[in-house]
Amino acid sequence: MSKLMIKNMDDVDIQQVALLSSKLFKQEGWDREAFEKELDNPISRAIVLKDGFSLVGFYVAWIIADEIELASIAVDSQFRGKGFAQILIDDLVEYALKIASKTIFLEVRESNERAISFYKKNGFKYLSTRKSYYIDGENATIFQKNL
Ligand SMILES: CC(C)(COP(=O)(O)OP(=O)(O)OC[C@H]1O[C@@H](n2cnc3c(N)ncnc32)[C@H](O)[C@@H]1OP(=O)(O)O)[C@@H](O)C(=O)NCCC(=O)NCCS
Repeated sequence: MSKLMIKNMDDVDIQQVALLSSKLFKQEGWDREAFEKELDNPISRAIVLKDGFSLVGFYVAWIIADEIELASIAVDSQFRGKGFAQILIDDLVEYALKIASKTIFLEVRESNERAISFYKKNGFKYLSTRKSYYIDGENATIFQKNL
């Protein structure tokens, strides 16, 4: 491990981020263009975690009045289980508290046990289910964390 760094996503990061997103989320992943739009989106907070030049993970969240929607979060498979997603979510919660946001929402595939246990550990609570939300018909579970 070289130097771990958390920072705002910029143009230089986008290729790596788009590659990771499409690798992990397949058809539902975001491409370069989608991330470029996020960099120009005034309500978007886009953060990367890097180990030197390597991308460890990222998140994108939308700030909508006093609520936050965590739109995407991921850690590359070779870096999993080492607390890196924790660093990302801690950054988001710290930011949310700073801007006096009241709630963070997110949606996750019902089958994504690893992510669900990560969210529960971080105080997210089940809110509702969106039937057949994903392209393949899987339901989405909506989780909410009140701040
Ligand atoms: C979900 C994800 C972001 C977790 O990243 P990570 O860096 O491995 O997570 P961390 O190491 O920070 O783990 C934090 C907590 O998550 C949970 N967790 C992580 N890996 C887990 C596993 N294999 N099984 C069960 N729980 C796990 C645990 O609660 C863990 O806390 P602990 O270490 O005290 O047990 C990562 O698995 C990922 O990128 N998955 C693919 C993309 C994805 O599904 N994103 C979410 C879409 S909604």
